Amino acid sequence: MERTLTKETIKKVGERVLIKGWVHSRRNLGKFTFIDLRDKEGLVQVIFIPSEMESGQDLVKDIRSEFVLSIEGMVQKRGPKQINPNLATGEIEILAKNLEILSTAETPPFEVDKDTREISEELRLKYRYLDLRSERMKNNLVLRSKLTHFFLQWLERKGFLYVETPYLTKGTPEGAREYILPSRLFPGEFYVLPQSPQQFKQLLMVAGAERYCQLARCFRDEDQRGDRQPEFTQIDLEMSFVEQEDILKLAEELVIELIKTLCPGKPILSTPFPRLTYKETIEKYNTDKPDLRQDKNNPDELAFAWVVDFPLFEYSAEEKKLVSCHHPFTSPKKEDEPLLESDPVKVKAEAYDLVLNGFEIAGGSIRIHSRELQNKIFKILGLDDEKITERFGHLLEAFKYGVPPHGGIAFGFDRLLMLLAGEPNIREVIPFPKTSDAKDLMMGAPSALEEERLKEAHIKLIKKDLKK
Ligand code: AMO
Repeated sequence: MERTLTKETIKKVGERVLIKGWVHSRRNLGKFTFIDLRDKEGLVQVIFIPSEMESGQDLVKDIRSEFVLSIEGMVQKRGPKQINPNLATGEIEILAKNLEILSTAETPPFEVDKDTREISEELRLKYRYLDLRSERMKNNLVLRSKLTHFFLQWLERKGFLYVETPYLTKGTPEGAREYILPSRLFPGEFYVLPQSPQQFKQLLMVAGAERYCQLARCFRDEDQRGDRQPEFTQIDLEMSFVEQEDILKLAEELVIELIKTLCPGKPILSTPFPRLTYKETIEKYNTDKPDLRQDKNNPDELAFAWVVDFPLFEYSAEEKKLVSCHHPFTSPKKEDEPLLESDPVKVKAEAYDLVLNGFEIAGGSIRIHSRELQNKIFKILGLDDEKITERFGHLLEAFKYGVPPHGGIAFGFDRLLMLLAGEPNIREVIPFPKTSDAKDLMMGAPSALEEERLKEAHIKLIKKDLKK
């Protein structure tokens, strides 16, 4: 017999069905036993009456929460008093005929038939596969999947080419510390995990792709916060022959359609999105990611805003030198180019952020496409010729062969999702996130390696640096 999903049973009153899933809850009422059986899309009530059963009646007493069952039974209407208006299948129930236990289960470390928000996060992360069984977490997974499909379909309709760029690569400096991987074949040499596909997407423009997109995993070894993870996902875009206005227009259209399609109940405070210069937003709100909601406690209100005209450089007090505000490939504003050498901190950039309810959910810029100008920027950032060639020789080389003017933007997919799901941090919308100290408690990563494997990777540990 073919399996029926629990939500489909409502359409099969009077028919015999086969359902499979987990025991969500169990109630004993004298001779009768009731369970709610859960599958990926819902719940249905099953009633076990020993005299009605053809097989498996002796197993009913063994059933516990989270057992995995296969049940054949008749779909029958519930009496008017038994109807449960809170359940999609609340008007029917399954009268069990056959029961098979596919898998038993120990009592879970926390109850998954309730919201797990109040459970210790450490426990939830260790048993993430159980946490993801809870309704809220499952809904977050579903919203994540819907958002992915929406983005990619929308971008394909607009002529974007989906390209996967490498994870084993060389660094793209974007402000954060990078994760490094030793090479087995080249002792003493390393790959770097990308902070973003920035250089690859620019090289794709040199390759003539013109419109690129990717659901890209990015890696940044930085201090964690509620809206930051060491690996996170971007919806990454790049376009050729465009100006800032084209990118803002496209990104805005994309976001508005996305909200209307996936979150129709959430009002967007103002369209077109207000635009603030960096200077204005700092002066007025003392932050470059202002929360412009009328009611700051209402997570359903969506207040988007563009922040534009960022400075190209800032002075890093830590490193006591100029650093790029966005990244070193960002174009200065044409009219500010004369100030590059004389007064670099006054130079404004063709860079923009999209802000939502006090969070930066996307950032991008028009890129430099002149070899000379790019070289000049690297020098202002304190790199000498040797370092420039070593780190960015490939990019400058590519720029010799006909590079179109180009620019792009990347959405912080997890942050956007966090806000749309009304969650307080991005861990709630990442299926398998890391803790605030970048640990994966479920897999037990990071972890020590056997001597043999270290040797293969040409790594020698310094004893005094080890914790144990
Ligand atoms: P940027 O560094 O601004 O730009 O990143 C783009 C967006 O990614 C999100 N984000 C993060 N989300 C979760 N955890 C993190 N650690 C994290 N860091 C950033 C933010 C941010 O707006 N290559 C450029 C894009 C471009 O210029 O086109 C880039 O990565 O929402």
